[in-house]
Amino acid sequence: MEILNLHLVNFRNFLTKRIEFSPKLTVIIGPNGSGKSNILEAIGLLSAIKSTRVQTDYDLVKFGKTEAKIEGKIAGFEPKTLTINFQVIDELYVKKAYFIDSVKKRLIDLSDFLSLVVFGPSDLDLVTGSPSIRRHHLDSELASIDRNYWRAISGYNKVIVRRNRVLQRISEGFSKPPELDFWDERLIAHAKFISQKRQEFFEFLNFVEPTFAQTSSQTAKWLGDLSWVLKPSLVNEEKLSRNRERDIAAGMTLSGPHRDDFQFVYRSRNLEFFGSRGEQRMAVLALKLAELEFYSVKRQTRPILALDDIFSELDWEHREAVLSVIDKQQTIITAAERESVPKELFKKAKLVELR
Ligand SMILES: Nc1ncnc2c1ncn2[C@@H]1O[C@H](COP(=O)(O)OP(=O)(O)OP(=O)(O)O)[C@@H](O)[C@H]1O
Ligand SMILES: [Mg+2]
Repeated sequence: MEILNLHLVNFRNFLTKRIEFSPKLTVIIGPNGSGKSNILEAIGLLSAIKSTRVQTDYDLVKFGKTEAKIEGKIAGFEPKTLTINFQVIDELYVKKAYFIDSVKKRLIDLSDFLSLVVFGPSDLDLVTGSPSIRRHHLDSELASIDRNYWRAISGYNKVIVRRNRVLQRISEGFSKPPELDFWDERLIAHAKFISQKRQEFFEFLNFVEPTFAQTSSQTAKWLGDLSWVLKPSLVNEEKLSRNRERDIAAGMTLSGPHRDDFQFVYRSRNLEFFGSRGEQRMAVLALKLAELEFYSVKRQTRPILALDDIFSELDWEHREAVLSVIDKQQTIITAAERESVPKELFKKAKLVELR
């Protein structure tokens, strides 16, 4: 999978910007604030990953503008042009339209043609942030691979909202508990599918050889002792009925996949509390690379890898480890300064300079 070029109009700090990518390696160099992360964010949006940086869609449109566009051409047997148009209605509502070769589509359709794995400094949130950040990550990962997962998760979220409303009405005396039966049944059906897919995913993550393990013995050893542990909140009929009173009292559904979490575990210690920042960073990178492998196996094509300004924070051994994976798929690397990028990369990379 390769992105050939990107065209931005009024997106973030860019008025108009065209970028051509190498099918192999592109290095983007530009000072702080020149828009390197914004470029990766734009590709991420085209691939239907909901950006984690976005507070509101309004933030994506260049200050003072009312329309914006992201367009990217994707290589393939039949190259495709993916487009997102933004139209600012007001600060709270930005209308979005999605196109493939100028034909109107849904957001999820774009993910059939483009997948991006980004690794950057803010990804430390995955280790140290709230469970909802990890769940969101998990869901966007699995949804981009499997349309049925996407359907299940949207269905499940709707059921939770409806069920919670019924719970509240019961506690207020407007509804009767048997009204929950209908929602419980649906909840269990979706939850079963979601839990199964999540479990399968974690089995794969812990089974796959770290792609960059062979490169250096220290890193390899460390990665060998690293695992990702799903902490599921399982539901079934029996558990739901046992917890009914509790759910009614709380006015919300207290168990189910929407309460799942996972941990980064090194030798049975949770890295959230016991990892150094460098270790947390490597653990996230290892996770992302394992996810990239998972996608490759499931979809028979490798996602694009983007490394956002990571070299300046890695010691040389970890740099070596990272270098061993960049030849395996189209890769985009960003850095604020040339000096922080390993020299040998410039020999084979297309260089893009921002100012
Ligand atoms: N909606 C917007 N309109 C105009 N400018 C914006 C908008 N959103 C963000 N920016 C600007 O984009 C710039 C940040 O871009 P970005 O984070 O991509 O930079 P970067 O090159 O990755 O920098 P760093 O090296 O610090 O990571 C900031 O100057 C910010 O003010
Ligand atoms: Mg940046």
